[in-house]
Amino acid sequence: MKKFFIAIIMVLVPMVASASSGGVHLDSMDADPTNHASLQRGMKTFVNHCMGCHSANYQRFDRAANDIGMPVELMAENLIFGDQKSGEQMTIAMPQVDAAKWFGTAPPDLTLETRLRGEDWIYTYLRSFYKDPARPWGVNNTVFPDVGMPNVLEGLQGVQMNHCSPEELAHQKSEIDPLTGLQIGGCLTISEKGSQSVEEFDKTVYDLVNFMSYMGNPVKLESQAIGFKVLIFLAIFFVFAFLLKKEYWKDVH
Ligand code: HEC
Repeated sequence: MKKFFIAIIMVLVPMVASASSGGVHLDSMDADPTNHASLQRGMKTFVNHCMGCHSANYQRFDRAANDIGMPVELMAENLIFGDQKSGEQMTIAMPQVDAAKWFGTAPPDLTLETRLRGEDWIYTYLRSFYKDPARPWGVNNTVFPDVGMPNVLEGLQGVQMNHCSPEELAHQKSEIDPLTGLQIGGCLTISEKGSQSVEEFDKTVYDLVNFMSYMGNPVKLESQAIGFKVLIFLAIFFVFAFLLKKEYWKDVH
C-alpha cells in the first residue's frame, strides 16, 4: 500500500510542478504545428529578438526551415546572421560566463523551454513585463518576479504598468477594448504605445511561442500520424486475436 502511495505521488508531483505559475493567472494558447505561416513568423521573431542572448543549441537551422515549409536558401539569407552554415545548430556567440556577469543569470538555452515551462507560461511571461524603476533593466515581470531579462519586445508592445498586488495578480482577468484596441480590466495596462496594437502583439508572441513549441517537439506531427496508424493496426489485429482466442477456447468449454 505504501509503495502504491509513493507511486501515485511520483506521478502527480511533476504534473503539479509543470502546471505551477507561482499562483499567477496564465493566458492559454493552443500551439498549431500545421500553421506554417505562423511558425515562419515565429522563427523570424526568435532569430531577430531572442538569439542575441539565447541559443537553441539542439535545433538545426535547415531542419527548422524544412519542417516549417521555408526554402533553406531563403532562410539562410534572411535568418542566419552569424557565420554558421544552414546545416548547423542555432548557437550564439555570447559566452555564458560573461552573460552571467551581465545579467546575474546566464540566459538559458531555449530549444526545450516549452517542455520545461509549457506554452501558456511563456506566452503569458513574454506579455507580462511592466515598468519597475527599482529593477536593473527598469522592468519586472508578473509571471517571473525580479526576472534578470530586459523587456526585449518593448519596442513592439510599448510600456506596461502594473496596478495590482501579488494576491490580486492571481485573480486578474483582462479583455481588449474593441474601440481603442487597448487592454482593460487587467492588472497590466499599456502606458506608452509600441509599434503594434495589443492584438497584433499577442499574435506576434503567439507565433513566437508556436515556433518555440515546434522546437520543443519537432516530431509532433509525425508522432500523431504514426499513432493513428498504430491504432488502425491494433483495430485490425484485434479481429485476428479475437478469432484466435475463440479457436483456442473452443475445446475448453
Ligand atoms: C538581452 C538578453 C536577452 C534577450 C535578447 C532575451 N532574453 Fe530571455 N532571458 C534573458 C536572461 C538573462 C534570462 C534569465 C532571467 C533570470 O533567470 O532571471 C532570460 C530568461 C528567459 C526565459 C525564462 C527561462 C526560465 O525558464 O527560467 C524565457 C522563456 C526567455 N528568456 C525567453 C526569451 C525570448 C522568447 C526572447 C526573445 C523574444 C528572449 N528571451 C530574449 C536574457 C535575454
